[in-house]
Amino acid sequence: MRVAHITDIHVERVPGVSQCMNKRAAGAVNLYVLGRASHFTRASQEALVAAVVAAEPDLVLCTGDLTATATEAEFLGAAELLAPLRDRFDWLVIPGNHDVYTDESVGRFAKHFGVVAPVRVERRGTWDLVLVNVCHPDWLSRGWLGKGGLGELEAALAAGERPAMVALHYPLRNRHGERYGPATRACSDAEAIEAICTRHARVRWVCHGHEHHGFRTAAPRSGDDLPILNPGAGGYAFLPERGRTAHFCVYELDDSALVGVERQAFGGERFAPETGGAFATGG
Ligand SMILES: [Fe+2]
Ligand SMILES: [Fe+2]
Repeated sequence: MRVAHITDIHVERVPGVSQCMNKRAAGAVNLYVLGRASHFTRASQEALVAAVVAAEPDLVLCTGDLTATATEAEFLGAAELLAPLRDRFDWLVIPGNHDVYTDESVGRFAKHFGVVAPVRVERRGTWDLVLVNVCHPDWLSRGWLGKGGLGELEAALAAGERPAMVALHYPLRNRHGERYGPATRACSDAEAIEAICTRHARVRWVCHGHEHHGFRTAAPRSGDDLPILNPGAGGYAFLPERGRTAHFCVYELDDSALVGVERQAFGGERFAPETGGAFATGG
């Protein structure tokens, strides 16, 4: 089975003034005044969709931040952009923090991309694909699973022997293998989530997004370390002078193991496998 993992597409539409009377005001200033909008481009986003179609995966997994400020216009744009993937392939998605900016955007995400549970187990072939939602409206950019969700994750992983993948939006560790921070933009119970994942040997790897420069790290556990993979933002602009471009991953699974990882990078016109192998070029 081949799983294409995309994340952090960040479809942007400039919000109206009436839509900025909440946290979105800070997000809009960040995007359109401080210039973050140019960090994500339609060229990258459209090339990403074309590259995933060409990769012909069995499943497309999206780990959130489909939008920038979670307006209806951005959700419509994201739905339109991603339609070729959702129409052709098995499709799984969880929100990112940018998709649940405000209370009403939680409903908006559900309307366009489906209702999200704290922990959801999807069976595919011999695999359990475990989707964990840690994103909620928050004045900062913090995520959390919470005590109930941690209990659900533990119960879900204790309930079988099948090989499993765990996907969430936030990193469990940073690119140096340390705890991810700062706390204002991290998942507050990342350590507890990781402890559950490492306790269950059937978890073969964890994947996530949120940090726009991708990286591969691992959590120590007895026997084999647990790989933690972040392809990097799929909608990132092609800015080679800043060492920045868009990426996505394709995971190759056999019946019991993750046997291969390919990472593709946007070269300005199209995506191609990363030179030197997955994560060889760093971010
Ligand atoms: Fe993001
Ligand atoms: Fe994020």
